Amino acid sequence: MGPLRQALLLALSAHNALGEITVYHAQRPMTTGVGSAGLPTHTGLPAYDPTTLNPPPIPNDIMKTIPVNLLNSGTAGLSIKQKGSFMGFSVEMSVTNQVLGKNSTHIQVPFLNLMANLQQRAGSVMVRVGGNTQESAKMVDSLPDGRILMKDLENVTGTTQTPPLDYTTDLLYLMRNVSSFVNVHWFLGIPWLKTKPFDTAIVTAADLIIGDYLLGLQASNEPDMYVIHGHRPETYGPFDYLGELSDFLGQVTSTNADPTGRAMKNLIGPNIATFAWTLEQVWDTGFVDTYNANLAYLAAEKYPNHNCNARFGDITKAINPQNELANYLVHSRHKALLAEYLNTTTYLQTKNKPFLMFETNTASCGGFLGISDAFVSALWGIDYALQMAYSNFSGAMFHLGGQSVYYNASFSASYISLSDSLFSPSQLRRQTRALSINGRLVLCIYYSALIMAEAMGPSNNSQVLDLPIEGLSDSTPVYAIYENGVPKRVAIVNYVNDPSHANDISVVISLANQDGTKTTPASVKVKYLAAASVVQKGNITWAGQTFGGNFESDGRPMGQEDIKTVTCDGNAKTCTVVVPAPGFALVFLSDDAMTEDKGLPSTTFATTAKTKFRNTVTVDPAVLATSNGNKFADHELAGTSRPPSAASRTAGVSVAVVTLLLGWVVALTL
Ligand SMILES: *[C@@H]1O[C@H](CO)[C@@H](O)[C@H](O)[C@H]1NC(C)=O
Ligand SMILES: *[C@@H]1O[C@H](CO)[C@@H](O)[C@H](O)[C@H]1NC(C)=O
Ligand SMILES: *[C@@H]1O[C@H](CO)[C@@H](O)[C@H](O)[C@H]1NC(C)=O
Ligand SMILES: *[C@@H]1O[C@H](CO)[C@@H](O)[C@H](O)[C@H]1NC(C)=O
Ligand SMILES: *[C@@H]1O[C@H](CO)[C@@H](O)[C@H](O)[C@H]1NC(C)=O
Ligand SMILES: *[C@@H]1O[C@H](CO)[C@@H](O)[C@H](O)[C@H]1NC(C)=O
Ligand SMILES: *[C@@H]1O[C@H](CO)[C@@H](O)[C@H](O)[C@H]1NC(C)=O
Ligand SMILES: *[C@@H]1O[C@H](CO)[C@@H](O)[C@H](O)[C@H]1NC(C)=O
Repeated sequence: MGPLRQALLLALSAHNALGEITVYHAQRPMTTGVGSAGLPTHTGLPAYDPTTLNPPPIPNDIMKTIPVNLLNSGTAGLSIKQKGSFMGFSVEMSVTNQVLGKNSTHIQVPFLNLMANLQQRAGSVMVRVGGNTQESAKMVDSLPDGRILMKDLENVTGTTQTPPLDYTTDLLYLMRNVSSFVNVHWFLGIPWLKTKPFDTAIVTAADLIIGDYLLGLQASNEPDMYVIHGHRPETYGPFDYLGELSDFLGQVTSTNADPTGRAMKNLIGPNIATFAWTLEQVWDTGFVDTYNANLAYLAAEKYPNHNCNARFGDITKAINPQNELANYLVHSRHKALLAEYLNTTTYLQTKNKPFLMFETNTASCGGFLGISDAFVSALWGIDYALQMAYSNFSGAMFHLGGQSVYYNASFSASYISLSDSLFSPSQLRRQTRALSINGRLVLCIYYSALIMAEAMGPSNNSQVLDLPIEGLSDSTPVYAIYENGVPKRVAIVNYVNDPSHANDISVVISLANQDGTKTTPASVKVKYLAAASVVQKGNITWAGQTFGGNFESDGRPMGQEDIKTVTCDGNAKTCTVVVPAPGFALVFLSDDAMTEDKGLPSTTFATTAKTKFRNTVTVDPAVLATSNGNKFADHELAGTSRPPSAASRTAGVSVAVVTLLLGWVVALTL
């Protein structure tokens, strides 16, 4: 059986407790299950499928004039202080060579540009390389054809048939070299499936090679999914995980695997999917105190939804994206999804430990066609990121499965050769946009990250408040962002889709001191995120600039920047900002609140290499099939019963399972 068929047929045997059954999942193209009669209507790459959904009906409870009365001090309920780098990215380890570059001397130019846009606003960017494929990753001396990573299909293990991922240290040099161009700081994962002994090669090498740019090392990925994946005995629980971490630390010490001692101060746990365990169950083992000296961050992983049936399960039970669309446009649903973390973020503040959302995105198992690739996801991403910041997370990462989720990892993209990029930034800027058609599709979620960087800014001092406005509709969340207690920016989402403009909202902002003296400025600056409808794909604009539609972006914003000035009412001492339905506005309450150029100096990188199109359809089994999202499919969707511990936790939108999302995808030229 060739790799293609092997990848397409995933033999998965369920856990003992569920009965000895073997389930064969034929993996379907991502477009299937959408459109008429569940037939795919588009035969190209999933990310470029033009299918659009119908916008949901207009809610009838929209408060069209929204009072936002802000105080210059003494406001209660603000979040902890947040950084501009709050929203980062998570890259599934097996697709690093597509997202970051081919090797340490062939770096993806669009990636550099996309990260440069973020550092310009935030000062730095957090990127995590990991996911399920980190769990059996093995460092090898070399790979055929000079590759930096490769699936070892000869050595599949476990009931999930996960092929080990072989990689060379050049992957780590690639990461380090990226940081020489843009201020990216990294998270990596330690393989945790095998514990006797642990494979600590990555600990030693990452510290040596990535050095100060290494933020932390993930000690296991979703250990609460290990039993359901068949990687641990049924009795495995939070105490066992605690013990494993102790074994790990002992081994690192006895083998001197961390000569600088730095890596062992920067671990991240427990990284659970809150599927089989709650975070409280882990905290109650004394985890945080026991490893206080070793843990730099605590983290969990969660997606709002999954699309696993359409990909692997019973197609007749596939979720119709049309039915899900409206859910992404309701503020209180996003808030409800994060409610389970509030106890944790309160608890961890008492321990002085930051808490991260290590993986999230619109939906696992590839996302939803018409949602994950449309304007709705950009609006959702902003609201969700702001809500996580308000909920006292200290950062979150949108997970990228990359095109290799569906397409072969050997596919060649638009790389830059290091010699090409050794121009000074000013020289690069003088070069014309090398190719009109190159680069990659910039997914909508990138706009969310860009805006979040701008909303937080680089002060490390921004505090977020989800404004409690009486009578406010669930379709129009409004946030204020404070620095040193002073309101600096207002972020407004209008989820309503109404081309008639009858549901454009007017947000009436005033500022005052606590004694009631109004300090409303004479004018405010406003940047809009705009598209004609929530289902529009491509051509989204942020302050008039766009990353274009498919095939159009090399990661640099195109077009003239358009920042609106709103003149305030001097008598009423109010500034009225209109936000179209749909749309998003970021209001800067003073000139010093503008953050676009307050991070690190802008740098751009020009593309010089053309991309080749090679459409070799294979699945990346470890990304898709063994993701917990798909394991959910194995148990829930393939007709077996769920484990009791999971059963109560899978209702409604709070599906705690999933790993993968519609990646940001390398675009192709012919
Ligand atoms: C990276 O790949 C390019 C193109 O295949 C090759 O020329 C170069 O030598 C490689 N670099 C390393 C460090 O392997
Ligand atoms: C993995 O596969 C290689 C052949 O590609 C084989 O030599 C090796 O023994 C296998 N390793 C294990 C642990 O099975
Ligand atoms: C990039 O990585 C290579 C190793 O392949 C190394 O020789 C080179 O110095 C690195 N370049 C930068 C700019 O760090
Ligand atoms: C909150 O977390 C603490 C620490 O784990 C735990 O003791 C407490 O029971 C939790 N409270 C709730 C309501 O879950
Ligand atoms: C976030 O933390 C701050 C500071 O401890 C607290 O006042 C606030 O209530 C917390 N927010 C939420 C939503 O729990
Ligand atoms: C990817 O495709 C190439 C040919 O296009 C093939 O040689 C290689 O084995 C494939 N790799 C995988 C992992 O399927
Ligand atoms: C913000 O924090 C980062 C480290 O996370 C630091 O490098 C940067 O200098 C800080 N910025 C300010 C303005 O303090
Ligand atoms: C995006 O805009 C360009 C230029 O205006 C147009 O040619 C293209 O059709 C638009 N694409 C979409 C998806 O709206």
